[in-house]
Amino acid sequence: MARKIIIDTDPGQDDAVALLLALASPEDFDVLGIVAVAGNVSLAQNAHNALKIVELSGRTEIAVYAGCERPLRRHLVTAEHVHGDTGLNGPGLPEPKLALRPQHGVDFIIETLLAHEPGTVTLCTLGPLTNIAMALIKAPAIASRVAQIVMMGGAYFEVGNITPAAEFNIYVDPEAADVVLRSGIPIVMAPLDLTHMILTTYERLEAIDAVGNRTSRAVAQMLAFSERFDLMKYGTKGAPLHDPCVIAYLLQPDLFEGRHINVTVETASELTMGMTVADYWGITDRPKNVLFLRSGNADGFYDLLVERLARLP
Ligand code: BDR
Ligand code: CA
Repeated sequence: MARKIIIDTDPGQDDAVALLLALASPEDFDVLGIVAVAGNVSLAQNAHNALKIVELSGRTEIAVYAGCERPLRRHLVTAEHVHGDTGLNGPGLPEPKLALRPQHGVDFIIETLLAHEPGTVTLCTLGPLTNIAMALIKAPAIASRVAQIVMMGGAYFEVGNITPAAEFNIYVDPEAADVVLRSGIPIVMAPLDLTHMILTTYERLEAIDAVGNRTSRAVAQMLAFSERFDLMKYGTKGAPLHDPCVIAYLLQPDLFEGRHINVTVETASELTMGMTVADYWGITDRPKNVLFLRSGNADGFYDLLVERLARLP
């Protein structure tokens, strides 16, 4: 039976690829809705981008909601320097005809969790955790109903990408990450340690482009745009591909390896704000709240991505 998921996202080229991987897999996922959050660019632009991606996939029955405009406590930090001014620079995608659903994304998350049997809905988070934290604050009863949260966020051995100490999604809203990490919900974390192994090499982008449909060509153009910043920064043969690891983990968990550990987020020191402190070696007796994915099979991941993109228009 298809797994029920809600995708919370700030698209973002890598978010877009994650959305497409999920939308290409209807036998695996029943996508109950997509909720935009402020992150890579503004909430309004991220929501607009989500609509574009839904149209690109041809799955126009999928509902898209807008969530929170800013983090719980801090001013919004964005990442146009990576993703471009629209957040989705690269392909020239048409303006969407679809409209956002009028309900607030946080209320959609709460109502959906309350309407389904406990333990049957998975939250896939690809951006800052603002909407999920707001939902937990507004309706704490949902915590026991979430099957699991599979999130892209955090880092330990790779440390940081937006600051020397912090990964972007956690840094943008560290208080929200703290609420989520302490919620008691089972969490799977796809940190930079994993995503920096899943590189968009030239050969892999060529293989995506060679699928030859409109979606795969758009994906190749998106990733060619977004990888430029990281290629310069890291000097590697390809850039990390972050958010699709969340969806790939749910599709094929045997591509990944991880360890159950405690992860806590720094919310006090400005120097290390948003750092995810991972007790990888079991030094403390803090509760093991996270399955921390430390590595993955990149070739297997890209084979899966190519196979699924070939199903789309
Ligand atoms: C995360 O930050 C965003 O820019 C990407 O979309 C990804 O979710 C990586 O740190
Ligand atoms: Ca993202």
